[in-house]
Amino acid sequence: GAIPVALSINGKSYALNLDPRTTLLDALRETVSLTGTKKGCDHGQCGACTVHVDGRRINSCLTLAVMHDGQQITTIEGLGQPDALHAMQAAFVEHDGYQCGYCTSGQIMSAVALLKEPCGPADADVKEAMAGNICRCGAYPNIVAAIQHVRQ
Ligand code: FES
Repeated sequence: GAIPVALSINGKSYALNLDPRTTLLDALRETVSLTGTKKGCDHGQCGACTVHVDGRRINSCLTLAVMHDGQQITTIEGLGQPDALHAMQAAFVEHDGYQCGYCTSGQIMSAVALLKEPCGPADADVKEAMAGNICRCGAYPNIVAAIQHVRQ
């Protein structure tokens, strides 16, 4: 049966009753209708589902919502607003860091978390740190340029 889970998502408290097998990704998309977080592969290989848990990036398809009781979840919807973009969102726009856009929220959530991680200054360092976020359109050079713009 369902069990109670208290999640803080983008600063708002949610008291949910979830099947304990519900992934954090499905809880976000289907239970609270925050569909900015995307489901690409649903098994940890693409990064489209990246969100922050207590400020650290995580593939939300690989973790159960019940494991995050009491933790702070941030999704792309909590990062900025259309009229007040986060610096990383603005940089992706400026540098065309997307084509179809499906991977973009995961790319941006990963990139924002990366700002607080140890990472060398070179483009190759950024590429390695972002290796968990796949872009089927191949927008990688522009994604790296956007991230470097914010880091520098
Ligand atoms: Fe989670 Fe692909 S949907 S890594």
